[in-house]
Amino acid sequence: MAGNTFGQLFKLTSFGESHGRALGGVIDGCPAGIMLDIEKIQLELNRRKPGQSAIVTQRKEPDTVEIYSGIFEGKTTGTPIGFAIHNTNQKSKDYSHIKDSYRPSHADYVYDKKYGFRDYRGGGRSSARETASRVVAGAIAKQFLTNIKINAFVSQVGEMKLEKDYKELDFSKIEANPVRCPDMETANRMEEYIKSIKKQGDTIGGVITCVIQNVPIGLGEPVFDKLHAALGGAMLSINAVKGFEYGSGFHGVTMKGSEHNDSYNSDGTTTTNLSGGIQGGISNGMDIYFNVAFKPVATVLQSYETINKEGEKVTTQGKGRHDPCVVPRAVPIVEAMAAMVLADFALFARTNKI
Ligand SMILES: Cc1cc2nc3c(=O)[nH]c(=O)nc-3n(C[C@H](O)[C@H](O)[C@H](O)COP(=O)(O)O)c2cc1C
Repeated sequence: MAGNTFGQLFKLTSFGESHGRALGGVIDGCPAGIMLDIEKIQLELNRRKPGQSAIVTQRKEPDTVEIYSGIFEGKTTGTPIGFAIHNTNQKSKDYSHIKDSYRPSHADYVYDKKYGFRDYRGGGRSSARETASRVVAGAIAKQFLTNIKINAFVSQVGEMKLEKDYKELDFSKIEANPVRCPDMETANRMEEYIKSIKKQGDTIGGVITCVIQNVPIGLGEPVFDKLHAALGGAMLSINAVKGFEYGSGFHGVTMKGSEHNDSYNSDGTTTTNLSGGIQGGISNGMDIYFNVAFKPVATVLQSYETINKEGEKVTTQGKGRHDPCVVPRAVPIVEAMAAMVLADFALFARTNKI
């Protein structure tokens, strides 16, 4: 399996499976001299971990990170940062029913066809447990990007939308409820809705909005490594992501150029920001904002029809501990991927001028 490394200068190589001994990674290219707050890394992992509330999977994992290298006297040394998170709460027998058959819309079928066989326990490498490694690397990237502020939040669950512009929101409220929607009234409705979906043994999708502030002008490497292309690639690499739009996104197609253009103020800022903080693939100093769409995940705790290895139709009962809606836990993953992209481009920016 190739493709386990993300980034070009700030690089994460991740390893591990859902029911293996541990997950982890090696971060290569992290600059030396960053005073790392390990507590902050753990706090990010706690935001992603299973079992944190009634509306997420009830797998109970402490998700404690152990760092093995690359730090001395609290500071990064510029050498590879190796780390691991041990799996402690696997229930592999919950997955025996999918050993020889495939969950529709999960990765089971394509993994079997591509590799010849698969670790079916907990979805193996296709499980979103892998994203714990991204959250560790993202938390380190955030500490490198001292001035840049990255805030993601849940802006939609099913048809239920947060009908407010991000500028009207108080980001300090994101962690105030289990949904991670900073508007309490909407968050309460979303929470009740997710609970009702869970009761039906079903799943529901959602949208995460991410806002990145205090970005310096000049991040992004045209032409193939445009900043928005890198952010899009990063977000689309997250499990269950089906859509990405930044700035005016798909809504922009309904506007005329004269309405859509962001006019300049004399200091180079713009009166509007439909460009979403990026022009020509380069950050322009305005806020970067984008939406990430997550599907209703595949594992429904209901009876469903599928095929087995022999291609015969079979009926299976979904079981195990699963997320009825993944967006509350995916908020720190979106932030982590955004932080790694920005760290990468911040390092590239150092190579642009003599
Ligand atoms: C935080 C998070 C938790 C997830 N939990 C589950 C889950 O409990 N059950 C499930 O079937 N899929 C879950 N997924 C999604 C699967 O990992 C994903 O659908 C699968 O790997 C197939 O990939 P694809 O949907 O991107 O095609 C989760 C995704 C994320 C981001």
